[in-house]
Amino acid sequence: VLDVQSLYKQAGMFTYDPGFTSTASCRSSITYIDGEAGILLYRGYPIEQLAMQCSFLEVCYLLLRGELPNFDQLKEFERNITMHTMVHDQLTNFFKGFRRDAHPMAIMVGVVGALSAFYHDALDIRSKCDREMSAIRLLAKVPTIVAMCHKYSAGSPFMYPQNKLSYVENFMRMMLATPCEEYEPNPVLVRALDRILILHADHEQNASTSTVRLAGSSGANPFACITAGIACLWGAAHGGANEAVLHMLEEIGDTSRIGIYINKAKDKDDPFRLMGFGHRVYKNHDPRAKLMRETCYEVLGELGLQDDPLFKLALELERIALEDEYFIEKKLYPNVDFYSGIVLHALGIPSKMFTAIFAMGRTVGWISHWDEMIADPEQKIGRPRQLYTGATRRDVPARHGRT
Ligand code: ACO
Repeated sequence: VLDVQSLYKQAGMFTYDPGFTSTASCRSSITYIDGEAGILLYRGYPIEQLAMQCSFLEVCYLLLRGELPNFDQLKEFERNITMHTMVHDQLTNFFKGFRRDAHPMAIMVGVVGALSAFYHDALDIRSKCDREMSAIRLLAKVPTIVAMCHKYSAGSPFMYPQNKLSYVENFMRMMLATPCEEYEPNPVLVRALDRILILHADHEQNASTSTVRLAGSSGANPFACITAGIACLWGAAHGGANEAVLHMLEEIGDTSRIGIYINKAKDKDDPFRLMGFGHRVYKNHDPRAKLMRETCYEVLGELGLQDDPLFKLALELERIALEDEYFIEKKLYPNVDFYSGIVLHALGIPSKMFTAIFAMGRTVGWISHWDEMIADPEQKIGRPRQLYTGATRRDVPARHGRT
């Protein structure tokens, strides 16, 4: 009889690391994080410089290709993306199958997953050319799909992409404008959304990126892999946090009630957590949060919303938590999503859409990691082991009608 112990002896020794707190799953040259020092670099460049000096598409080029583009390379890249922003007409029929009140992330999982049913002319993952084509298609079409999710749930007509607009202007128009009005981009608001996308573009082996890599390790096509990332991102401990922050602030409602929620967060018997606080890797500060906080001030200033009660409540909550022993001891600081929800809310984007916008920014990180993995000659199918805790071998008891 083979018992559990002898099974382990046969398998050899392996580490048990739930949550992968100290296990590297791959080598990567895309993003570097020093969580203690609060450093985040994309391909060696500090996030602060990228967020202030580059556009989102420049950062996409950098993440995908390893270097910042020169002027001509950027123009060519932008042209290529712009040419692919439309989705196949039949894909629009997919939306009709969803309830109007479906969560946009549920629709995203369905529609982005369906892209491989439309663009299978370039799905040879061993071909660099096909992989680049899929990357361009995903970067170009995901914003169109996100905007369609919003319009569908609002019961409004879809807005078609406009080639003369920039990536972010085009997205804002598809999301927020109607066919009967002329869209006038506001540069401060466009820059704010561009920055949100840059700050969310990559974050090394976070849960959704690791999911994309694991899905891709079997040879699955890129659209299927990115969809796996979208599904993982949806959870409140990950990309769902920006939406959860806004709900939490609305639920708190008034600065006088902050104490109640701080105490709930500290109560071991209460599962409640302060949304937008804490990070697996950052144990000092999240550099993205600082940039997002500054963006908050810029956007609210531009819109004359400096006295917005939600923003004031967020600042007071932040102040109280940062002075609280529990949060200090556990090194829980505001993360990027504490502020991004406030910015998106001020831009007029409904909270249901926040995680889909996170997915739009992270798509480039997912594709870059997927591509890096596929190109690696040492790449193997991801196959973690487990510590089995179930019954040892036993016989099915004889029962009536079965011997
Ligand atoms: N509020 C209250 N307590 C918290 C919080 C929080 N937001 N986050 C962690 N803690 C406590 C935990 O209860 C735990 O306490 P214990 O040591 O007494 O058991 C301790 O801090 C460590 O928490 P873990 O869950 O073990 O930390 P982990 O690194 O696994 O989790 C995570 C990180 C998921 C981000 C967590 O801090 C959290 O749930 N935060 C709220 C959700 C959130 O904002 N997510 C966005 C992350 S950023 C992003 O995805 C872009």
